[in-house]
Amino acid sequence: MKKMWEGVTSGVTESIADDFNSSISFDSRMYEQDIKGSIVHALMLGEKEIIAKDEAEKIVVGLEGILKDIKSGSLKIDMSCEDIHMFVEQELTDRLGDVGKKLHTARSRNDQVALDLRLTLRNDVDEISELLKKLIKIICQKAEENKEQIMPGYTHLQRAQPILWSHHIMAYAMMFLRDLDRLKDCRKRMNICPIGSCALAGTTYDTDRFFESENLGFDGPCLNSIDGVSDRDFVAELLSDISVIMMHLSRFSEEIILWSSWEFKFIELSDSYTTGSSIMPQKRNPDMAELVRGKTGRVYGDLMGLLTTLKGIPLAYNKDMQEDKEGIFDAVDTVKMSLKVFSGMIETLKTKPENMRTAANKGFINATDLADYLVKKGDAFRNAYKISGRIVADCMKNGYVLETYPIEKYKEFSELFQDDVYEFISLEECVNKRISFGGTGPMSVIHQIKTVLASL
Ligand code: ARG
Repeated sequence: MKKMWEGVTSGVTESIADDFNSSISFDSRMYEQDIKGSIVHALMLGEKEIIAKDEAEKIVVGLEGILKDIKSGSLKIDMSCEDIHMFVEQELTDRLGDVGKKLHTARSRNDQVALDLRLTLRNDVDEISELLKKLIKIICQKAEENKEQIMPGYTHLQRAQPILWSHHIMAYAMMFLRDLDRLKDCRKRMNICPIGSCALAGTTYDTDRFFESENLGFDGPCLNSIDGVSDRDFVAELLSDISVIMMHLSRFSEEIILWSSWEFKFIELSDSYTTGSSIMPQKRNPDMAELVRGKTGRVYGDLMGLLTTLKGIPLAYNKDMQEDKEGIFDAVDTVKMSLKVFSGMIETLKTKPENMRTAANKGFINATDLADYLVKKGDAFRNAYKISGRIVADCMKNGYVLETYPIEKYKEFSELFQDDVYEFISLEECVNKRISFGGTGPMSVIHQIKTVLASL
């Protein structure tokens, strides 16, 4: 079949060249945005009398029919077309005859594809934001339900200080809140309208780019037509925002995997988010968390792919830019799925406070508090720190923990020790005393939950 662009070339191409060139297999997902953009374009052409008003109306009705028919399934997208833009225009011309051929006045596929992609990704940003909000709410709810459970907090994956499990997971709520903010920021820069840039230089027709921008819900038309068709920053920016979201999900996944192992058993995942083994009957595998962690690598690849594609291309449009879509669509689909599965997994997990508590009892995680005790009694921190270190070493040598270390022995290290030391270093006390703003104390956690929920 001859191509729409037949003219200076014969328009006859090898089928392998067609396959290579074609993007309809992945850009057809933008059919709705493509048609909506075309409807507004036709309205503008009519308003400005670039084409006759009644022709514009016919085009609009024709496009609405195409949209309705694709949605209902009665019209199948013809995968032999080069891309979705060609398909819609061809279908319109098949339906309307010569009037259909007027739609592409004062427009190019270069500004058209830039428009479609912005409209599509704008929806995706909104959807991802909603999914993030849902996850943040679930984290807050889990923290609220399990407010008082004490676990060891870690640095270097070594037991460090007692913390509340709720405080630990609220750290993730903070990350996802920042992700939301990043998406908001990204949406702002994305929401600029490229249509009317045409091939690259604008047009000789008296178009109204503000009309198009407004009717498509943008904040305004882009200022420079060359930038309008060559800018893919919004794709790179969204990809990097999604990469950060995946990084957060992946870190959280790593902890879920550790916590659900027999070595920790701080949590148990619900059966509905756990898989078994085909050979080992005892296995409860955290596949969902592992897959989120694994898919993060793929999304980083999507980001690197786009940055590399863009880095060497001159202005304005080059066909390289067609490669922008598969990566971002993959990342968008992956992050949406990951957020949905992850939310369900968190919502249904059960904590095992007794195991957290056992782990917290064993690791001398109140040694800082022992030093603080001496400081409270008048010693300087650096001295107190040294004394506590020696006591811990003695405990380890002789099979004690700080809670069971006899008071006479404490006194051998410092005259300042009295019976109240045991209460001072109890894990509850250690946690309750951490009243500094943003610390692990229960009031701070409650404040965090409240503030986060209010900010949604
Ligand atoms: N399918 C193309 C893309 O995704 C549409 C733009 C084509 N423009 C062109 N000058 N051939 O980038």
